[in-house]
Amino acid sequence: MKKAVAEILAYIALWVMFSSLAYAYDPSPLQDFCVAVNDSNSVVFVNGKFCQDPKMATANDFFFPGLNVPGNTSNKLGFMVTQVTVNQIGGLNTLGISLARLDFAPYGLNPPHTHPRGTEILTVMEGSLFVGFVTSNPDNRLISKVLCQGDVFVFPIGLIHFQQNVGNTPAVAISGLSSQNPGVITIANAVFGSKPPISVDVLTKAFQVDNNTVSYLQAQF
Ligand SMILES: *[C@@H]1O[C@H](CO)[C@@H](O)[C@H](O)[C@H]1NC(C)=O
Ligand SMILES: *[C@@H]1O[C@H](CO)[C@@H](O)[C@H](O)[C@H]1NC(C)=O
Ligand SMILES: *[C@@H]1O[C@H](CO)[C@@H](O)[C@H](O)[C@H]1NC(C)=O
Repeated sequence: MKKAVAEILAYIALWVMFSSLAYAYDPSPLQDFCVAVNDSNSVVFVNGKFCQDPKMATANDFFFPGLNVPGNTSNKLGFMVTQVTVNQIGGLNTLGISLARLDFAPYGLNPPHTHPRGTEILTVMEGSLFVGFVTSNPDNRLISKVLCQGDVFVFPIGLIHFQQNVGNTPAVAISGLSSQNPGVITIANAVFGSKPPISVDVLTKAFQVDNNTVSYLQAQF
């Protein structure tokens, strides 16, 4: 009898462990907040993280000004992102959420990229965007749409996606992301611009092109 109870408890413990592993990205907080600090003086240690002593927290730990200011899109892509993550607002630490402002010059592009730690939900504030994401192997299906002002679109966590301004006026979007630090991997930069470079042999086979094409692409990043 005792043995059976112990077994059941062990199963429950395993289930709790695996179910929380399966669903947790940013861990759920066990306190009201845990304002991240760089300085190890005057910190307390909560949930394995350095946090500011909660008594010291002020409104500025939860504040970021200036998201009305357009990003500078004078670059090759005609695109700029202004991130508002835990690096800008220490109070986001442990809360599993962040924000970004996306600015597009006419026909500007946020090139194919992925957020390894966060789903993105985007709202078009101005202009129109052609957006899309690609499902994982083996289908690699493109799911895409042209969005207008006020439209909302979701990019599921980890999937490669892009946004392109398809109008001849600037476009602006605001995105929420389900991580305090969602991360970005820009596909072209990661594959052709890694330091040190991925060998030409690997890339010629992977992309089924000759080595001159690979060298040309590597030179762009
Ligand atoms: C912590 O350091 C980072 C990188 O140096 C900086 O961007 C950030 O503003 C700092 N955060 C605080 C709360 O001082
Ligand atoms: C925008 O960026 C370009 C290129 O880096 C730079 O020349 C220009 O001065 C910047 N404009 C503003 C308003 O900061
Ligand atoms: C590129 O391929 C050509 C023809 O196979 C070969 O002669 C050359 O050495 C290669 N260059 C590099 C950098 O691998």
